[in-house]
Amino acid sequence: MDHYTTQLVKESFDLVEPIAPRAAELFYANLFALDPSLQSLFKSDMVAQGEKLMKMIGVAVSLLDKPQVLIPALQGLGRRHADYGVRDEHYDMVGTALLTTLQQGTGVAFTPDVREAWIEVYGVISRTMKEAARVPA
Ligand code: HEM
Repeated sequence: MDHYTTQLVKESFDLVEPIAPRAAELFYANLFALDPSLQSLFKSDMVAQGEKLMKMIGVAVSLLDKPQVLIPALQGLGRRHADYGVRDEHYDMVGTALLTTLQQGTGVAFTPDVREAWIEVYGVISRTMKEAARVPA
């Protein structure tokens, strides 16, 4: 992943962070519109869940240039997600919901380059999580 990609992702996430609660709300609305059955996977309070999601995306974005720290954290997250009942195909829906949310949250700043950068970053995050879910710890 090149420096330009990580820079674009960091800059656009900076725009979303101040509106993180709203972005989290939009994200779940987008996700459950794509597949209402996913709601049943979430057992806890959605406000708290939204905060955790935004915080973890923030952590991942800030660690993009420190893969030796990021990769093990994502592997643990991926294994826990398998226990929550999350399957491979759910990652595509979460990716789509995330891109829609970022577009809604950043408006004109969500240029085609920014979109491509997020697709690359989400691809790395989701592949790492999915692969870790497949192998025993
Ligand atoms: C970029 C990818 C993702 C990130 C960063 C992320 C982040 C998180 C975090 C930080 C938690 C809190 C619990 C923990 O740390 O283990 C969590 C829980 C959870 N996530 Fe994710 N997640 C991602 C993808 C997904 C996907 C694809 C699904 C499938 C719909 C999903 C569904 C859930 C569920 C069901 C929980 C547990 C909620 C509960 O306790 O009720 N996540 N996620």
